[in-house]
Amino acid sequence: MDTDRAFRGRRVVLGVSGGIAAYKAVELCRRMVDAGAHVAPVLTEDATRFVGALTFSALASEPAQTSLFNVDASSGGSPIPHTRLGQSADVIVIAPATARLIGKYAAGISDDLLTATLLATRAPVVIAPAMHTEMWEHPAVQENLVTLRRRGVHIVDPESGRLAGGDVGEGRLAAPERIMDAVADILTRSGDLAGVRLLVSAGGTREAIDPVRFIGNRSSGKMGHAVAAQAAGRGASVTLVTTAPDTAPAGVDIVSVVSAQSMHDEIVGRFDATDVVVMAAAVADFRPKVVAGDKLKKAAGAPEIVLEPTPDILAELGAAKRGQVLVGFAAETVDIVAHAREKLTRKNADLLVANDVSAPDAGFEVDTNRAILLDSSGASEETPLLTKAALADVILDRVAALLGRAPTNPDQEIP
Ligand code: C5P
Repeated sequence: MDTDRAFRGRRVVLGVSGGIAAYKAVELCRRMVDAGAHVAPVLTEDATRFVGALTFSALASEPAQTSLFNVDASSGGSPIPHTRLGQSADVIVIAPATARLIGKYAAGISDDLLTATLLATRAPVVIAPAMHTEMWEHPAVQENLVTLRRRGVHIVDPESGRLAGGDVGEGRLAAPERIMDAVADILTRSGDLAGVRLLVSAGGTREAIDPVRFIGNRSSGKMGHAVAAQAAGRGASVTLVTTAPDTAPAGVDIVSVVSAQSMHDEIVGRFDATDVVVMAAAVADFRPKVVAGDKLKKAAGAPEIVLEPTPDILAELGAAKRGQVLVGFAAETVDIVAHAREKLTRKNADLLVANDVSAPDAGFEVDTNRAILLDSSGASEETPLLTKAALADVILDRVAALLGRAPTNPDQEIP
């Protein structure tokens, strides 16, 4: 990755909280400025006990700020510096992030300039925690990190090594090059789907047998929800049609559905006003032909349930598409590539994501996945085992390329 290209001309708010690793943020600030970024440092009061604001002011693109209430040159004369900083940032990087900062951010507390800026932004946020091993491993900190991750915050995990006071263990701030790489990666992607209207389906449909029973499948919706979350983070306007609305990510429009028919109706009705459809849902292929009005009684004996096909949503969209990019999924257990290729052609999709759902670490319910991506040119690409969020980004990279989208960096060519 070309780090300089990712940073050039981008606005970075560099938040520094009060830990011994605060001195390392000085190096980070210098590297970001050298890479061409406009860096606005924001220090918590405690951070200034470790490093002087003047040090950052001397190196950064604008004076370091430490207070919500300083209406002077350091705040650009703004009486509300947190909204100016939050709204204008392309990314907010917190390094080091102390346990306290993480706790406040997870709880939505905004009692100083840095935490207020974090709530006043829609920009991606990267946090690099640093603290003693006991604090890092404490369930309160780990649970707060789970909350932040779920909200789409990027965490650059600390490393093992020497800590303050001569201790050794996990909790040391990640090396500056790791933080730089993580931020560059996010800057390269952020905004490349701006203005794109993206419809994602997720979860397994339920086909009613009677008022209490249904035919279903093991899909959790995690893969589709990851696509929706990552696409929103990249600037797309996302509608998520899901059977698992309770676990849907923030920042997307959610349409709750249950059956293949309701999913069909919600998606087909929106298709004309959509640029990309990602059909990550596990849609039932068959449903009971007749749904009993009352609960079937055991005493009546084993029922004979006659099935009929459900509408094939992806195939219908493939036949109707007028320039939209269509992405399908193929959950397979045998002959994965052959089945996926046949589906790609039959459903007239532009990209098919095939995975082996019999593998224990890929497919249904787990947080990781491994896939083979097939496109209509005949090319195929196999990914390593990835988190579903990371696989979502790989899929969205391909979608961006199919749309002819360049990354937001003005001088970066279309791949
Ligand atoms: O044919 P199969 O169910 O394996 O195809 C999988 C792909 O087709 C997935 O993208 C799924 O969301 C979509 N599909 C659909 N409507 C159906 C069945 C599957 O859109 N009735």
